[in-house]
Amino acid sequence: MENHEFESFYKQGIVPEGEFKDFIACLKTLLPVTFRISRPSSHSFVQRQIEQLARELDHSCSNRSQGGGGEEVPSLRFIDWYQGPGGSAWQLPASVRVSSESSEASKLKLQLDVLASLGLIEYQVEEEVKLPLMSSLAGGRQHDPRTVLDLCASPGSKTRQILHAIGEVEEAGGEKGEGIVVANDVNAKRCSTMIHQLRACGARSCIVTNHDARRFPPLFIAGEEGGNRSLRQLKFDRILCDVPCSGDGTMRKAPKIWQTWSVRTSASMHGLQLQIARRGSQLLKPGGLLSYSTCSMNPLEDEAVVAALLRESNGSLSLVDVHDGRGSCWETTRLPPPCNLPLQSRNPRCSSTIAKSTCRESAWMHLDRCARILPHAQDTGGFFVAILKK
Ligand SMILES: C[S@@+](CC[C@H](N)C(=O)[O-])C[C@H]1O[C@@H](n2cnc3c(N)ncnc32)[C@H](O)[C@@H]1O
Repeated sequence: MENHEFESFYKQGIVPEGEFKDFIACLKTLLPVTFRISRPSSHSFVQRQIEQLARELDHSCSNRSQGGGGEEVPSLRFIDWYQGPGGSAWQLPASVRVSSESSEASKLKLQLDVLASLGLIEYQVEEEVKLPLMSSLAGGRQHDPRTVLDLCASPGSKTRQILHAIGEVEEAGGEKGEGIVVANDVNAKRCSTMIHQLRACGARSCIVTNHDARRFPPLFIAGEEGGNRSLRQLKFDRILCDVPCSGDGTMRKAPKIWQTWSVRTSASMHGLQLQIARRGSQLLKPGGLLSYSTCSMNPLEDEAVVAALLRESNGSLSLVDVHDGRGSCWETTRLPPPCNLPLQSRNPRCSSTIAKSTCRESAWMHLDRCARILPHAQDTGGFFVAILKK
């Protein structure tokens, strides 16, 4: 697991100098397994099942230590800060991915897989569990976002979190919200998988569409004006652009990215990402929020896209500070925006959007309001999120 181009690129001040060794070392380790209860209505049943699994593990652990058994028994760690949809989340060491078939770890993984196949728990990378989407983007019912568009939605983990947050998932005796979530993806096969998963979680007000997000068509709502039927274009309260990316934040889950990563491939995503975010901003209501996120740590795919969007918005978009009010669950690194970095790219359009991102410009744009999660900080994957207000 070596890639000199990757290392020299990230040494350009993207990762603080004193942390670089830890950053690289962490990327070479496997990512822990994180899961959360996905149906609030089955919460107490699933919680009991998981507590039972944890007790069985503790029991095997103490038997093993008495008998001097060699194999490591994984422990289930309750993530005590998590207060998102479903209410509870846990973490398991990465070793459960690679344990032998007969081990305690693989038996545990098998039982969790059964709960996951029934739609009762959902595996997630921890930074996604931490994502402040629910409070900042979906906002919960008190902020009442009624219309949400997820432009790159499949496999739908963020869509499901939003549906939970705005009360559009069936809960025992729960009151139904009044929202609607449109979940879009360009890939028809991935849309079909997402439909099954949304059904399994009891989603009530969700429409799945299959369009290229860059050209997502206008949607219209029928109404009445002066006794005549009329159509009005639907603009959205919240829009998610969780765009396709180079995925270098997922190296701990997909180590083959070490062999394929290059500045060129990473930069080649910039144009597509900007076009998707641009279409999102056109479909957003004034006062609405748009989240732009990637599982890449690369400023070419992150701040450079946000900067280009802000620049062409002529002041109609501004960044919301995602570092605010996260509490203990959300430890982000507020890094200086990547201005004046020699971010070499052979894509001329991309170079020009980055070159324009001077220090002066990033000061008025407040690019430090975006958040980049670096894997070594909290033993997670890498991630980037920006929230823009129209
Ligand atoms: C990072 S994944 C989204 C993950 C998803 N938001 C979740 O949380 O489960 C990016 C998705 O974008 C889709 N995609 C790629 N190009 C697209 C385009 N031009 N328009 C819409 N979706 C696109 C891919 O098929 C992929 O499912």
